[in-house]
Amino acid sequence: MADGSVRLAQEARERAYSTPLDQFQVADAELFRTDTHWPWFERLRREDPVHHTAESPYGPYWSVTRYHDIVAVDGAHQVFSSDSEIGGITIAGGNEPRERTSFISLDPPAHDAQRKVVAPMFTSASINAMEPLIRERAGRILDELPVGETFDFVDKVAIELTSQMLATLFDFPFEERRLLPRCSDLLLAFDVNATPEQEMQRQSEMFVTLTRFTELWNQRAASAPSNDLISMLAHGDATRHDNDPYRYIGNLVLLIVAGSDTTRHSITGGLIALNRNPDAYARLRANPELLVSAVPEIIRWQSPVAHMRRTALEDAEIGGKKIRKGDKVVMWYVSGNRDEDAIPDPDAFVIDRERPRQHVAFGFGVHRCLGQRLAEMQLRVVWEEMLKRFSFIEITGEPERMRNNFVKGYLSLPARVVA
Ligand code: HEM
Repeated sequence: MADGSVRLAQEARERAYSTPLDQFQVADAELFRTDTHWPWFERLRREDPVHHTAESPYGPYWSVTRYHDIVAVDGAHQVFSSDSEIGGITIAGGNEPRERTSFISLDPPAHDAQRKVVAPMFTSASINAMEPLIRERAGRILDELPVGETFDFVDKVAIELTSQMLATLFDFPFEERRLLPRCSDLLLAFDVNATPEQEMQRQSEMFVTLTRFTELWNQRAASAPSNDLISMLAHGDATRHDNDPYRYIGNLVLLIVAGSDTTRHSITGGLIALNRNPDAYARLRANPELLVSAVPEIIRWQSPVAHMRRTALEDAEIGGKKIRKGDKVVMWYVSGNRDEDAIPDPDAFVIDRERPRQHVAFGFGVHRCLGQRLAEMQLRVVWEEMLKRFSFIEITGEPERMRNNFVKGYLSLPARVVA
C-alpha cells in the first residue's frame, strides 16, 4: 500500500474506535470509496454485531455483521423478505411495484418459478460448453494489451472480459456489447444526493439503453426459442409477461447487473490482492492448479456485493437483538467474510485455504447466486490465460474505487504487463 493509503487506514482505525457506537454510519458510501470501512465493521463484529442505526439518509436500519448471523437471516426467507413492494434488496431500496421487478426482489413461490426459467443456462454442462469461447475471447483481449506501457486494467481487461461474457450469455450483438456494463453503471449511479438534473440525465440515458433491450426482447419473442438468456426469458411461462415492457425488463437488467459488476470487480480485486501478496503471485505462476482455491479466495477477499437487504415480515430475534416487523435488516457480506469466528486469519489473502468456499460473497438460501459457477469459471480462465502470457501484471498506481455501499468495486486501476 502507498504511504497515503496507510495513513488513511490508521486514521480510519482511530476514528472507528473513538466514535460512540450510536453514531456509527457504516453505510456511508464514502467509507467504501476510501476503502476505510474495515475498522468500523471490525468494531461492530466485536462489540455490537447486530447493530441498530437510528438515523441515516436511508432511514433506520439494522446491520448484521457476523458470518453466522448473516447465514441465519439469508436462510430465513419466510421471516426476512426480499419483496420489492416492501423495500427490496438494497439499503436504498424503496417500495416498487412487484410486477416491475426481477426474481431477486421476489419471495417464493414467484421467485422460484422465475429463477427456474433461466437456471438451465447455469448448469455444469452449459458452463463447460461456454468455456472454450470465453477462453478464446479472453486470450484475444490479453494479446492486445500493450507490453511495458501503463493502461487502465478496469477498462481494457475487466470490463471488456465481462462484456464479452454477457454478450455470449444473451447472444447480444457483439459490437454493442459495451451497452451491457453501461446499463449496470447507470443503475448503480443512483445517488440519494444527486441533483434533479443529474438524475434526469441518468434516467434518459437509461431509457435509451432499455429501449434497445426491448427491441431485442421483441425480436427473440417473435422467433423460435433459442439457447440464450433473452430468449429463455422471452419464452418462459413465468417470465414472458406478454406486451408489458415494465414487467420483463426487470429480469433482464438483474442478469446484466448481477453478471457484469460482480465478476468485473473480482477480476480487478484479484490483481490488487496478488500485487499486495507477491509470494502468492509467484506460487500461482509456478503452479496454476492452485487457482482452484485461489479463485474463491479472490472472491471472498473482494466481496463485490457489499450487502443485501431484507425487511422483517414479523417480530424476530437475531444475535439476541429484538427485530420488529417492518424493520430494515442489512446483511453486510463484506463484514461476514472477515469474521474470524468463521474464517481463520480472515484479513490475510491465502490462496490455498483448507475450506476456500467458506464465505458469504455469493449469499445463502433461496437467492444464493445463480451465476456462482460461471463467475468462478471465468475468473479461473482469465487467470490461466494471464499466467500463460505474462510473468507479471504490475499495478503502477492507486485504484479509483466506486462510491457505493452496494457494489464494492473499482472505476480504474493503472497497470502494466511484464512479458
Ligand atoms: C464473483 C461474482 C459474483 C458474486 C460475488 C455474486 C454475488 C451474488 C449475491 C451476493 C447474490 C444475492 C444472494 C442472496 O441474496 O443470498 C447474487 C444473486 C444472483 N446472482 Fe450473482 N454474483 C456473482 C456473479 C454472477 C454472475 C456471473 C451471474 C450471471 C450472469 C449472476 C447472477 C445472479 C442472479 C440471477 C442472482 C439472483 C438469484 C436469486 O434471487 O435467486 N451472478 N449474486
